[in-house]
Amino acid sequence: MSDEKPSLSSDVMLRRLRADDAANFKAIRLEALQASPELLGSTFEFDNELDVTWFAGRLEESHVLGAFRAGVLAGTAGFSVQHGPKNAHKGRVWGMYVQSRARRLGIGRLLVSALLDVARARLEIVQLTVVTTNQPARRLYDSLGFVEFGMEPKASKLGDHYYDEAHMMLDFGRKPDAF
Ligand SMILES: CC(C)(COP(=O)(O)OP(=O)(O)OC[C@H]1O[C@@H](n2cnc3c(N)ncnc32)[C@H](O)[C@@H]1OP(=O)(O)O)[C@@H](O)C(=O)NCCC(=O)NCCS
Repeated sequence: MSDEKPSLSSDVMLRRLRADDAANFKAIRLEALQASPELLGSTFEFDNELDVTWFAGRLEESHVLGAFRAGVLAGTAGFSVQHGPKNAHKGRVWGMYVQSRARRLGIGRLLVSALLDVARARLEIVQLTVVTTNQPARRLYDSLGFVEFGMEPKASKLGDHYYDEAHMMLDFGRKPDAF
C-alpha cells in the first residue's frame, strides 16, 4: 500500500497516519490505554503527559496505519525499524488496537495484513510481544503466520500484577525489495 493512496474495504478505509494525525492518534491511544492497560506497552498516565508533538514524531519515524469507519479513527497498527546496524532487517509491530465497538468485523486482520504488506517490502523479519493471556491478539497473529519464539515471565508489571509476554516473529524468508 502506498503512503498516499487509501485502500478501501467495505466501509473501512486504511491509510498511513502522519504528523497531522497526531492529536487523533493520541486520543485513540489514550482510549486504548484506559480500556486495556495490561495489554499495551505503556500506561494512560504516562502517555497522557506526552505532548502531541511527541506523537507526531512517533508517527513520522514509524509506519502507523489507521482504520477509519465513517471517517472516524477506529483502529491502529504500526511498525518501526529496529535500531542499530545489526538490527535494521527487523521491525517491531506496536500500537495494535481496535475500538471495542468495532471489533470482530475484520478490522484488526485488515490492519495487520496491510501493515505486513508494507513491512515485507522493507524488512526481513517482524517481531512483536503479546501478553500470553491475550487470546484475541494471539489468534490473530497466529493466523497471519507469526510464530512464538520465547516467553518472558513477568515481562510487565501494572500495580501489583505481573504479565508474562510471548515473543512472536514472522520471517518473510526473503530479502526486502530495493528501497
Ligand atoms: C486484538 C484486536 C486488535 C483484534 O481486533 P479485531 O478487529 O476484533 O480483529 P478481527 O475482527 O480482524 O479478527 C481477526 C482474528 O482475531 C482473532 N480474534 C479477534 N477477536 C477475538 C476474540 N474475541 N476471541 C478469539 N479470537 C479473536 C480471530 O482469530 C479472528 O479471526 P476470525 O474472525 O476469522 O475468527 C482487538 O481485540 C483489540 O484491540 N484488543 C485490545 C488491544 C490489544 O490486545 N492489542 C494487541 C496488543 S499485542
